[in-house]
Amino acid sequence: MDGPVELVTEDGTVVRSDRVVVAVCACRRSKRFPLCDTSHRRRVRRGGSQE
Ligand code: FES
Repeated sequence: MDGPVELVTEDGTVVRSDRVVVAVCACRRSKRFPLCDTSHRRRVRRGGSQE
């Protein structure tokens, strides 16, 4: 997504980002949820494949 953007969460909170590139967090690990802060990358899978 190209910024700036405004997101409205399920509880009606409006989250605004002025960043040029914005990613929406789908893993819910982000400290900036609902925006992705790349925390999803810390996931370590054992016995599985990683991208
Ligand atoms: S998708 Fe959740 S931190 Fe990136």
